[in-house]
Amino acid sequence: MKRTCLCDLLGIEYPIFQGGMLWLATAELAVAVSNAGALGVISPLAGMERHGDPSKNLKDQISKSRDLTGKPFGVNIPLDLQYSGILIDVVLREKVGIVITAAGDPGHYTELLHQEGIRVLHVVSSVRQAKNAESCNVDAVITEGVEAAGHIGFDELPLFSLIPQVADAISIPIIAAGGIVDARGVVAAISLGAEGVQLGTRFVAVEENIASPEYKQAIIASKDTDTVITCRKLLPTRSLKSEFSRSLLELEESGVSADDIRDYLGYSRARRGQLEGDMANGEAYCGASTGLIKEIIPAALVVRRLVEGYQEIIKKIV
Ligand SMILES: Cc1cc2nc3c(=O)[nH]c(=O)nc-3n(C[C@H](O)[C@H](O)[C@H](O)COP(=O)(O)O)c2cc1C
Repeated sequence: MKRTCLCDLLGIEYPIFQGGMLWLATAELAVAVSNAGALGVISPLAGMERHGDPSKNLKDQISKSRDLTGKPFGVNIPLDLQYSGILIDVVLREKVGIVITAAGDPGHYTELLHQEGIRVLHVVSSVRQAKNAESCNVDAVITEGVEAAGHIGFDELPLFSLIPQVADAISIPIIAAGGIVDARGVVAAISLGAEGVQLGTRFVAVEENIASPEYKQAIIASKDTDTVITCRKLLPTRSLKSEFSRSLLELEESGVSADDIRDYLGYSRARRGQLEGDMANGEAYCGASTGLIKEIIPAALVVRRLVEGYQEIIKKIV
């Protein structure tokens, strides 16, 4: 597969990222991806018990990753978590090499992280956000289209439109995310101006992911029309269609306030759906290309198929 500037910037073999997944991206998953030559990413609450201590959990996940691999890995910090500052303290103290911030202003912590020699990447979903991230001196942007699983941008821009417009607007590297599952998506993203790709849903349905069997099976069983966007006014989110997403949409359509929806969501519906397997009462984030995922395989095989498939496509089209 094509080496891009991200390989040298981050010390990785392939410009492929496993996306952060708040409750699911454990050290074991990230290490499996990193050992395959891509970039594994750990998330602060992954592997933590309900109402556990996020900062202790993150510290444990970082030290476990270091025990299991000498390769680079990243840490994802959603800046909308109340305690994101405490998590930033952890990555600074632990001198993690790569931090991926999301859902907030990259102006808050980028300089502080850079002072410790940490590479900072930020998730964006519009040209405006990408320009702001560049002006905050982040090293690269993960540019996420509306196809992505989980929280998406309010503007709901499709990846095919978003990547070339962002590429024309900024000069730092772009990692494309949203709806990429196989090598066709990788070639398309690179053609549109990305230097790398990030996959989320594909790395849920892998052996090393701690996601519940119910959630993994629902991904395998799903087809093109089986995802839906909820919470459009509060925090637009793409998930599998389910009893839960239907009742949430009904509540939204009834015109209740954002606070009522927040109350209804309560303490992590994502944990319930994704980790505890309660598909009727929990959110099961899922990308729009879910219909392409047919089997649960090892994470390293996902990486290998992307790399080999990329070569085959390039041979065909050149
Ligand atoms: C279960 C799950 C949880 C996620 N949690 C986060 C998160 O905590 N932080 C983040 O930046 N992105 C999160 N994402 C988004 C992914 O990192 C990735 O960008 C996205 O899934 C890409 O779209 P795809 O699923 O179509 O490949 C999550 C995705 C999934 C599937």
